[in-house]
Amino acid sequence: MGELTGKVVLVTGGAAGIGEAVVLAAAREGARVAILDRDGRAAEALAAQINGARAFGADVTDFNALKAICAQIAAEMGGINGAVLNAGGALGRAPLMDCTPEFFAAVIGVNLVGCFNSIKAVLPHMLESGGSIVTMASLAGVLAEPAMPAYIAAKHGIVGLTKSVAVDYGRQGIRCNAVCPGFVRTPGTEHLFADQGFVQMLNSLHPIGRIVTAQEVAEACAFLLSDRASGMTGSTHLLDGGLAVN
Ligand SMILES: NC(=O)c1ccc[n+]([C@@H]2O[C@H](COP(=O)([O-])OP(=O)(O)OC[C@H]3O[C@@H](n4cnc5c(N)ncnc54)[C@H](O)[C@@H]3O)[C@@H](O)[C@H]2O)c1
Repeated sequence: MGELTGKVVLVTGGAAGIGEAVVLAAAREGARVAILDRDGRAAEALAAQINGARAFGADVTDFNALKAICAQIAAEMGGINGAVLNAGGALGRAPLMDCTPEFFAAVIGVNLVGCFNSIKAVLPHMLESGGSIVTMASLAGVLAEPAMPAYIAAKHGIVGLTKSVAVDYGRQGIRCNAVCPGFVRTPGTEHLFADQGFVQMLNSLHPIGRIVTAQEVAEACAFLLSDRASGMTGSTHLLDGGLAVN
């Protein structure tokens, strides 16, 4: 029996990259997984490979769509016990003077507002029996790096939102924890890995000698979803191969 047997777990941005790894880890641990992604076809293709999984096409910036999908998941899959709110991305780089208000709003929208929308949609279905929410922040949620003011602000916001949910709903059986990956090779970051010099430099900066994998991030998410993490809420977990302490 897996650590998530009997649980229904929602994964946003679950069709690719870190989200896909989370879906596969949760399913391996026995969860029935609801894969939500703006790429509905990719979500369906992944769900077709997993026993009992369901796919839903939606953008996390659309609160009404999320609300309807969460109600459908709860009704048809028997509740929602866990959620990994992973949809997001940097969308590009620009220092503040080159960052337009529209770009700033778009990055905040996909990452921070998308996370807020997802929590607000999923929470009503967790309040009866409790649940675990894992938010996907980033090392950019605790540190700054050059030319990413919108992403840094959004991911710091997710860390704060996570703490706020932990404080407000802990007594109702809700745990909420943030995961902060460093560099991870995914479809969203693949363009960075064409430059071998960059990859070598990146690996050398990590005390473990390499970047972390999507699978390693997924294992941490699976643990935080499980009852083994019952004492953990409001916490911020760096998954960066030691990069931040180097
Ligand atoms: N890859 C990294 O190095 C890294 C590091 C730190 C944090 N993160 C965070 O991890 C998460 C996943 O990153 P990744 O590299 O796996 O991304 P990715 O681009 O490889 O995959 C993202 C998935 O989410 C979906 N998605 C994107 N925006 C969406 C939206 N608005 N609504 C619904 N679905 C959406 C995409 O269709 C895709 O399936 C993001 O929140 C990202 O900020 C990534």
